Amino acid sequence: MTSIADQDASQLGGPLSILVRQRRDHERLDVLLHQLDGARPGADEDRVLGRIARLVFPHAFAEESVLWPELRRRLPDGEALTLQVEREHQEVNELWAALEQLPPVGAGRSDVLKRLADVLREDVRDEEDVLLPRLQATTSVPRLRALGVAWEAVRRTAPTRPHPVVSRRPPGNALAAAPLTVLDRSRDGLDAVARRVPRLQAATRASGALARVAGRVERAGVLRLGEDPSTRVE
Ligand SMILES: [Fe+2]
Repeated sequence: MTSIADQDASQLGGPLSILVRQRRDHERLDVLLHQLDGARPGADEDRVLGRIARLVFPHAFAEESVLWPELRRRLPDGEALTLQVEREHQEVNELWAALEQLPPVGAGRSDVLKRLADVLREDVRDEEDVLLPRLQATTSVPRLRALGVAWEAVRRTAPTRPHPVVSRRPPGNALAAAPLTVLDRSRDGLDAVARRVPRLQAATRASGALARVAGRVERAGVLRLGEDPSTRVE
């Protein structure tokens, strides 16, 4: 089975195909991870991390909502394959949540950042070399395009921050999408204002308040429905 990294766009089903869209995001992630390697601790690193979060979390959320359920329906071993990547996504969520609690400089932070980059790269390899070629082998090109359109629609309206407590599977993650997306994207706006106008502490305080609201929303029992026990945190 050929990795989607080694096929051209027409072999992958053209620009609408989920396979082309996935690879495009993975290439963007690779660029950002190289930028993160060279970023200075503090504002520079935070800026790159913000870009990575806004790429990675909606991307993974849409995979968990649209793509992995399709793989579980189509492949006899889809359950085990998707659980592997859901565990990687869960680790990314937990590492990111840990990072937000750490001081901006220090050995603990660089260890978490290194592990985060390693897991993100492993996740891309698992998807491009195993899961997505398996999907390609059992799916028509029109269906790959329909999946691409559905995945993109969810990705554009998905949460942009880590939510380790929410289920990695439907129905919990689908129910979580609307409230957490509103909270996350509001925080993205407030944080952008705070970066542009550092004296405007109200924006930082409002973002912190929304983070606490998001924490309470995450723990609503219904948003944890469907979770495999191995990706559940208390
Ligand atoms: Fe992906």
